Amino acid sequence: MTDFIAIDGPAGSGKSSVSKAVARALGFGYLDTGSAYRALAWHVLDRGADTADAAAVLDAVADFPVRLGLDPDDRTVRVGDVDVTDAIREPTVSGAVSGVARVREVRDQVNRLFRTLVAEAPYPAVVVEGRDITTVVAPDAPVRILLTAAPEVRAARRAGELAGENAETVAAALHKRDASDSAVVDFLNAAEGVEVVDSTELDFPQTIDAVLAVIERTRGVH
Ligand code: DC
Repeated sequence: MTDFIAIDGPAGSGKSSVSKAVARALGFGYLDTGSAYRALAWHVLDRGADTADAAAVLDAVADFPVRLGLDPDDRTVRVGDVDVTDAIREPTVSGAVSGVARVREVRDQVNRLFRTLVAEAPYPAVVVEGRDITTVVAPDAPVRILLTAAPEVRAARRAGELAGENAETVAAALHKRDASDSAVVDFLNAAEGVEVVDSTELDFPQTIDAVLAVIERTRGVH
């Protein structure tokens, strides 16, 4: 049985890079669940459907040949034979993805996919990062972490990643997406039994160490 290492958190918390580094350090698999929602938004748009139309999104998820690897060093995402790795980071997809992720039946389908991927993974454990992994996808996971950081720190990190973007524009976009995403699942507060790692005052290596320490303490590995 493959273990879930469940890590939730908001945009700009360092979740993706930290989760990937932790998976690498421990020889575990890595699953970025946000990229599945992004690939689904791409798929809906590719079919010429409206991402705000719940029925159209449900139709699209019923025929959604997404291919997500679990290798932390390979972030390739495919839908059928189309490599959508870069396309799913484009603003059109980023702007549409919250709408797609809002449909409950869609989430149920996508969650089934995540559980199957982890169950069949050729790793002892998979670091699974998202918004509702600690609460909905794997509430019984042996390790459940909420990675947070103060909003201004998250915005500054995002602005650093998006060279040329104005910090205030980035902060406003981040705030808007947090508000939209957290209307669906609460990833800003830790559920009972979930360990909080606050990276506000930590640099990248310190955040990795903090997460590894939680894993070591709760799972007895590393
Ligand atoms: O982490 P990200 O920005 O790539 O996530 C993309 C979108 O998917 C974002 O709007 C939140 C949503 N999402 C979700 O609702 N549940 C998850 N487990 C992961 C992401």
